[in-house]
Amino acid sequence: MDDPHVNNDTNQQIISLEGIKIKQIKDEARQDPNQFWSDCAKNLVWFKEWQQVLDWNYPFAKWFVGGKLNAAYNCLDKHLTTKKKNQAAIIWEGEDGESVTITYNQLFRRVNQLANSFKRMGIKKGDRITIYLPMIPELPISMLACARIGAIHSVIFSGFSSQSIIDRVNDAKSKIIITADGGYRRGKIVPLKRIVDEAVKNTPSIEKVIVVKRTHEDLIMGENDIWFENLVNKESSFCPPEWMESNDPLFILYTSGTTGKPKGVVHGSGGYLTHLYISAKWVFDFNATDIFFCTADIGWITGHSYIVYAPLMHGVTEIIYEGAPDFPDPDRYWKIVEKHGTTILYTTPTALRSYMRYGNEIPNSYDLSSLRLLGTVGEPINPEVWKWYFDVIGKKNCPIIDTWWQTETGGIMISMCPGIENLKMKPGSGSFSLPGIEIEIVDDRGIKIEDGKKGYLTIKKPWPGMLISLWNNKERYKETYWQKAENSFFTGDFAYQDNDKYIWVLGRADDILKVAGHRLGTIELESAFVSHPSIAEAAVTSKRDKIKGETIIAFLVLRKEIQPTQNLSIEVNEHIKRTIGPIASAEKIYFVNKLPKTRSGKIMRRLLKSIVNKETIGDISTLEDEASIEEISHELDAINKQI
Ligand code: PRX
Repeated sequence: MDDPHVNNDTNQQIISLEGIKIKQIKDEARQDPNQFWSDCAKNLVWFKEWQQVLDWNYPFAKWFVGGKLNAAYNCLDKHLTTKKKNQAAIIWEGEDGESVTITYNQLFRRVNQLANSFKRMGIKKGDRITIYLPMIPELPISMLACARIGAIHSVIFSGFSSQSIIDRVNDAKSKIIITADGGYRRGKIVPLKRIVDEAVKNTPSIEKVIVVKRTHEDLIMGENDIWFENLVNKESSFCPPEWMESNDPLFILYTSGTTGKPKGVVHGSGGYLTHLYISAKWVFDFNATDIFFCTADIGWITGHSYIVYAPLMHGVTEIIYEGAPDFPDPDRYWKIVEKHGTTILYTTPTALRSYMRYGNEIPNSYDLSSLRLLGTVGEPINPEVWKWYFDVIGKKNCPIIDTWWQTETGGIMISMCPGIENLKMKPGSGSFSLPGIEIEIVDDRGIKIEDGKKGYLTIKKPWPGMLISLWNNKERYKETYWQKAENSFFTGDFAYQDNDKYIWVLGRADDILKVAGHRLGTIELESAFVSHPSIAEAAVTSKRDKIKGETIIAFLVLRKEIQPTQNLSIEVNEHIKRTIGPIASAEKIYFVNKLPKTRSGKIMRRLLKSIVNKETIGDISTLEDEASIEEISHELDAINKQI
């Protein structure tokens, strides 16, 4: 598995911090993992201690079995007896420049009021509540209110379509949806309530729709629709926290997989929160004066873990920004850093690449001197962008943490740990796995491979933040994660380790795309294409992109008698936006007569990927029909010329 991207060029950047004891911590974790994780879990507030640290019934892990705790209590109540009570938990920055500060005490009261409203509506422990909100304070408030009463939240990214809501709500059988009248995106209003109205025609489990006022649209409120304000204002500001067993589900988060249907990744509280607490301490090294700015959307795992749960457990002040990085001008993050004295910025390579395009003058015109740590997540960061981040944003004073993890891992798995180590950074490498996390890079047969060779990234032992299962689908859980590398968790990523054992994650090895850091399944996209009446067959692949990392390229076979036209291409893309959401629109659509397939009928997406990225095509001997190889090659050549 030789790869052109693999190189051992160790373009190192060294920053010396007061390094402490990472080696010692890693040794402790290796020698007695149960004791190690148990000590980590003691950072949380437990109502009842666990009887067993880990019940590992391969491939199902239960952490801190029998332990009882509450996630909202760990984020809020525990600060009320300290001086954090009246300090800012959230500084919310609207896209229009408005800022609102919410203290821990105010957040506590609001969460409790909403929790009481849920109870009044008959919601019980274990019921599911779907949240489809833009980046406004009511989003974390709703999640924490669910956690408080033991309801399971299922947050849907507010860029998804009605159809995506239908699929997720029906899978989870949610009783309530919380949405807003609208959300702001680049100054325009996204009509969220109308999108929900469309969806609830096909979601029989939904009993009520709770609506937050954000854009003050004129809305028609149906008999099952309730304004958020009217609901919570009359409620008491204390609701007793539910004692949750450590492995009771805290939330479901749907994410794209290698089939057409998104997977409902389920996380619990005891293990998940332990992982978040300790990883945030090691990686972000949070302290009382930090102003933390994670730019992710809460609709994705980064926001769940490192906007909602980890920072609030640590009692830091964090910034939540509502809008786009480039609205109204391509300086928004820098403006926010200066305005609020941000100390830690955690963002994506896509955002950095798009800012870099505008040159250094814009960031140089802001005072970024409050920054002490810079992080990235979600996709590989190219060394050029890393250098820009380090030099121009961090002024060579801030370490960069390149954090690798996934929706399924719950928390950070690979990263430098400024909280506990000296740093020798290599631009583009996340460095090493965190203490207690055992990574192995294996070949097709699941056998460990030598350093320098590209292979599949696997995780050898269970870890606390690990997903509990997939919602209502244990079989798919086993098959997706545990059958490809024996006794190890299969991440689906390619990686290699260099001679210094630094881990370099190279991207997905499966049919998952990362478009601007957003995770999308090719098969999910293909099903959306073929649901258009003119399309008979579809193959989706991705092309490397300077800003977004990857963009979507679709090859479509039309139904008989349908003619390919520019208008049809536009119409099909509109259909995709309606079916999945604007993030799924294709960069390019090609109408073709035939798709390259293997003899068993599988589309050769890798072949298409090589073609669109102008790489050597490699072995095509498994193509369906040997006689058609030439014909297909001609066709592909023709496509190649168009690209
Ligand atoms: O391919 C890896 C990439 O993002 C995938 C996980 O996507 P998702 O579940 O949406 O979670 C993203 C946020 C944690 C991984 O399989 N990925 C994530 N972080 C990095 C990365 N690729 C390279 N470097 C990273 N730091």
